[in-house]
Amino acid sequence: MNVLVTGGAGYIGSHTCLELLESGYGVIVIDNLCNSNPKSLERVEKLTGRKIKFYEGDVRDEALLLRIFRENEIGCVIHFAGLKAVGESVAMPWKYYDNNLNSTLVLTKVMNQVGMKNIIFSSSATVYTADNEMPLRETSRTGNCTNPYGWTKYMTEQILSGMSHADKDWSIVLLRYFNPIGAHKSGLIGEDPRGIPNNLMPYITQVAIGRREFLSVYGNDYDTHDGTGVRDYIHVVDLAKGHVAAVKFVTAHTGCEVFNLGTGTGYSVLDMVNAFKKVNDVALPYKIVDRRPGDIATCYADPTKSREVLGWEAQYGLEDMCRDSWNWQSKNPMGYGD
Ligand code: NAD
Ligand code: WQD
Repeated sequence: MNVLVTGGAGYIGSHTCLELLESGYGVIVIDNLCNSNPKSLERVEKLTGRKIKFYEGDVRDEALLLRIFRENEIGCVIHFAGLKAVGESVAMPWKYYDNNLNSTLVLTKVMNQVGMKNIIFSSSATVYTADNEMPLRETSRTGNCTNPYGWTKYMTEQILSGMSHADKDWSIVLLRYFNPIGAHKSGLIGEDPRGIPNNLMPYITQVAIGRREFLSVYGNDYDTHDGTGVRDYIHVVDLAKGHVAAVKFVTAHTGCEVFNLGTGTGYSVLDMVNAFKKVNDVALPYKIVDRRPGDIATCYADPTKSREVLGWEAQYGLEDMCRDSWNWQSKNPMGYGD
């Protein structure tokens, strides 16, 4: 079966293409490369010895999507394409609503037209409200998002679940990712953020490689074991394998199901700093600074439903994630731009 992967050249998309190919699926990618480099797909081909059919273009381009569905026998879509920088979404809300909502609307319009109605969507733990108890279950409260990026994920969930209520032929899986980090063990593919990283792990690896002077730790007065923020970091290869499990599920069911993709374990910023230094034997200067607006103290998943229904659970631990993040960064100091 062929899977159409939107945003397949990106960080999570490229790792998922690799796992799909290794599981025997054919892979077709559409990506406009607005936040990625086509080298990621060349490297996936090199690692797997298999070809990816790549269309460079925008998911909002209806004519191109129709052409892709006409030229290929597609059994399922994984929809990664989207913009994801929280701060930028506050500064440029229209850009985020346009890209993230219209890409889904055009994609599902074309899917409806061609009669292929299996879709897996990249949602986020950011859709959960800040006042939930931990761990977060799929039934925990959602909404009250603090930024336009989060609202696009929340609204897309509403759009897709509404479609499945209206038309019982749709099979929709909403995957709520926690904090993906790490890289494929080869060190050939990994996360390559443009400009100054927003997220913790790419910032850590850029400090360790000497591209940044020190890590700013955003607050040490949270109600956590050491005062720094706690998150559920998940290895990107585990996350990619979760998508392979979701492909099997989505092609065998109808309706709309939500799954958390997390490990169920939370680590603080200082846990991450200390583990990274220890595992990789590198220096990692940091300074405690003010809290970052919008951050919460603690966020981690209850992954029970994914284990019981998808038969998936994370295999990698903190040391693997720190080792593989550093392996990628040290082999590619400037990311794909070397
Ligand atoms: P990424 O930026 O590396 O990948 C997204 C890809 O989509 C990029 O290759 C980009 O060029 C492409 N793209 C964006 N808009 C497009 C459009 N209109 N048409 C075609 N291609 C387009 O990001 P990622 O970390 O791999 O995230 C993948 C998805 O998972 C995103 O939807 C993101 O919001 C979601 N997500 C990511 C995280 C995370 O922490 N990385 C967490 C939760 C959810
Ligand atoms: C993790 C922890 C920071 C950077 C974001 C999005 C979320 C999802 C994943 C897409 C927090 C601390 C960070 C730094 C720090 N993305 N930190 N210094 O905020 O949990 O989630 O990415 O859906 O929507 O909001 O991830 O990696 O930014 O932060 O101290 O330079 O690290 O305060 O406690 P976050 P993060």
